[in-house]
Amino acid sequence: MKHLLKLLDLSAEEITDILNLADQLKYEQKHKIAHHHLKGMTLGMIFAKASTRTRVSFEVGMYQLGGLPMYLSASDMQIGRGEPIEDTARVLSRYLDGIMIRTFDQEQVEDLARYGSIPVINALTDFAHPCQVLADLMTVREMKGSLEGLKACYIGDGNNMMNSLIVGCLKMGMSISVACPPGYEPDETILAFAKDYPGFNLLHDPKQAAADADVVFTDVWASMGQEDEAERRRQAFAGYQVNAEVLAAAKPDAMVQHCLPAHRGEEITHEVLEAHAAEIFEEAENRLHAQKAVLVTLMQDRRKM
Ligand code: CP
Ligand code: NVA
Repeated sequence: MKHLLKLLDLSAEEITDILNLADQLKYEQKHKIAHHHLKGMTLGMIFAKASTRTRVSFEVGMYQLGGLPMYLSASDMQIGRGEPIEDTARVLSRYLDGIMIRTFDQEQVEDLARYGSIPVINALTDFAHPCQVLADLMTVREMKGSLEGLKACYIGDGNNMMNSLIVGCLKMGMSISVACPPGYEPDETILAFAKDYPGFNLLHDPKQAAADADVVFTDVWASMGQEDEAERRRQAFAGYQVNAEVLAAAKPDAMVQHCLPAHRGEEITHEVLEAHAAEIFEEAENRLHAQKAVLVTLMQDRRKM
């Protein structure tokens, strides 16, 4: 594994290895066991969109691994003034040991990896949010014991989260039913991947999708960059809320996961979020551990070079 651009690129074994390492790093951090696997290494963190969890967990994670994280706002870089990604990639590769990027186009992340010579991590594009879904899988495995055979459900927009969850869950032997309003389906490449899995269901009825689910996922109706569509989306998604009625269709011990930030009263009710806060904030914490595992997996060997 050279980069983390999207979960479609990873095998089930690679995902399992990351989750196992994440569990180990979480244990070490909790027990104050030093784990400076990336001592002396530097990670550039390019952000073209806002962030709370991703920025803080990557910065803290890199520091805990003995390395240096460097926050780079895309609007303050020459990239924001039109410097080509090919040039940015080749220049940054000469200073840094790894790059994490949050941006709009998946193609930009793929190009950064193509033209650079250091590992690239996708920290969210319009297409994918692989770091989040690794943390989600880690949390579900931690709380349910294993992933194989579990039934997941996602209610909401066919966005980066739905795209990545479909791939992550199916690769790990789970089934997943998703419910979205017509016109808000996941990306075509994801549908092409999922069509060979009998455990995948694309539905338009949230209760049908939630039936017998072990874990219910949701995400915002309007993602970053879609602020202008927020009102139209509020209307389109009105029946697609994770609430007590929808949860009643799931298993009695079903987990609820939300990548956050949450809009209470829109995609999830205040009551459901608070009733499942322990799982949701563990999920947020696991961003740190899962990403440290990704950083170590991608960058550790380069240290010997
Ligand atoms: N879940 C997530 O990626 O959060 P941030 O946008 O705060 O980084
Ligand atoms: N789908 C959301 C996820 C935020 C973490 C967005 O892209 O804004």
